Amino acid sequence: MEFSGGWRMRIELAKILLRNPDIILLDEPTNHLDIEAIQWLEEFMETYKGAVLLISHDRAFLDNVTNRTLEINAGKLYDYKVTYSKFKVLQEERIQQQIAAYENQQKAINDTEKFIERFRYKATKANQVQSRVKQLEKMELIEIDDLDNAAMNIKFPPAPRSGDIVVETKELSKSYGNLNVLNEIDFVVERGEKIAFVGRNGEGKTTLSRIIVQELEYEGELKIGHNVNIGYFAQNQDELLDPNLTVFETLDKVAVGDIRTKIRDILGSFLFSGEDIYKKVKVLSGGEHSRLSLAKLLLEPYNLLVLDEPTNNLDMRSKDLLKQALEKYTGTLIIVSHDRYFLDGLVDKVYEFRDKKIKQHVGGIYDFIRRRKIADLKEIEAKNKVEKQTKTNTVSDNKQQYLERKERDRTRRSLEKKVSKHEQDIEQLEVEISNLNKILAEPDKHDSKKLETTYSMFTKLNQKLEESMSNWEEAQSNLDKFNQENQ
Ligand SMILES: Nc1ncnc2c1ncn2[C@@H]1O[C@H](COP(=O)(O)OP(=O)(O)OP(=O)(O)O)[C@@H](O)[C@H]1O
Ligand SMILES: [Mg+2]
Repeated sequence: MEFSGGWRMRIELAKILLRNPDIILLDEPTNHLDIEAIQWLEEFMETYKGAVLLISHDRAFLDNVTNRTLEINAGKLYDYKVTYSKFKVLQEERIQQQIAAYENQQKAINDTEKFIERFRYKATKANQVQSRVKQLEKMELIEIDDLDNAAMNIKFPPAPRSGDIVVETKELSKSYGNLNVLNEIDFVVERGEKIAFVGRNGEGKTTLSRIIVQELEYEGELKIGHNVNIGYFAQNQDELLDPNLTVFETLDKVAVGDIRTKIRDILGSFLFSGEDIYKKVKVLSGGEHSRLSLAKLLLEPYNLLVLDEPTNNLDMRSKDLLKQALEKYTGTLIIVSHDRYFLDGLVDKVYEFRDKKIKQHVGGIYDFIRRRKIADLKEIEAKNKVEKQTKTNTVSDNKQQYLERKERDRTRRSLEKKVSKHEQDIEQLEVEISNLNKILAEPDKHDSKKLETTYSMFTKLNQKLEESMSNWEEAQSNLDKFNQENQ
């Protein structure tokens, strides 16, 4: 049996934990892990009592796990007792302070030099000039930390308009030999949508991406819309670039027309400069490889981008810039990623791959995660229920489940109370209305004033009754829904 990346990570961690270490060192642990596994790791880290030293480019993960951030900059170590996001704010403040101090110092130096210049031949000022020269010599020059602002500069060309329906599948299935990965998928992508493919490792995200870009055979129906031109970033980069070409040749081979004159500029904005562009693809680092593939996507005006884990080898700044460029991109976007911070705000629809099917969730990535959590809880509950029925001697619930049950009971009681309150109101109103009815039924027994007030009362109470009825209906349906969801 072969374990997927996520499971191997869990096993490795379990092994480490059994040794009960004082400190755990993790170097990029979330690379290639799916969101569920990342969240599992976050929870694991929360309960772990020892120290954790973590190297990561996953911002959401860093923020959830760490409470201290170390920065090494120009041989100096800065130690911040805060999470990564807060550190970024403090770091910016520090740089601003350094710039201000630097400018003050430059001004002081300037003034001093002027003084020396003006009075250097005046005997009466000889002492002062001397002391100022010493001052300058002793002055420790303030340096501004270099933030390494070298980062990609990405701008996708405007996307030519495609048909309204960009991709459509009907009963699309895919098996590798005996392994069925996708089973009768129906799915539609409309022009301009920005969607994420998420799901556990091995659920078929890459498979469907490759089917859409027509790299893989399949069963069922797949329609690519009118005038759709697809740009593809593959998860497995080795399959895509020719290892024997140089960086320059890789772009030169595909570029046509005016863009040919801009290849060097494009490579430069993806941080390939000077001799770099003559490196062969086969010697490139992971990050360089990814950057070259992304650069390739700018050569043509694609209107559908299929990006399969494009951020895996990118540093945080490059990720931010890629995200910004994709936010501005006018075409249709399908993106496979496990990076929550990257997806947040970028996509407005999430497709979850699970058990050979895909399920649409409208909303951003955190909406999806919230819903997924609730669904998981329900699954666990349903399982617990079955287990309880089969076991005579049930194990006592842990505290969390106990609290959740208590919370549910409380909600149910409050919903039931609302229903019965409205029922009482209705009964009460019906009695009052029927009393008024009796009066109105015998108009000749009462004077006109009495009849008038009775009638206006009668209409008022009827209105109230209607209100109470619809309140009751709502309360009852809330209760029904709650009961259905919490069987
Ligand atoms: N060429 C192939 N031959 C046989 N099995 C394959 C092949 N490609 C993928 N698979 C299997 O199909 C399943 C789906 O793989 P796929 O790469 O689509 O998953 P994924 O959702 O992209 O996973 P990840 O999050 O790890 O990238 C996996 O079980 C994988 O092992
Ligand atoms: Mg994949």
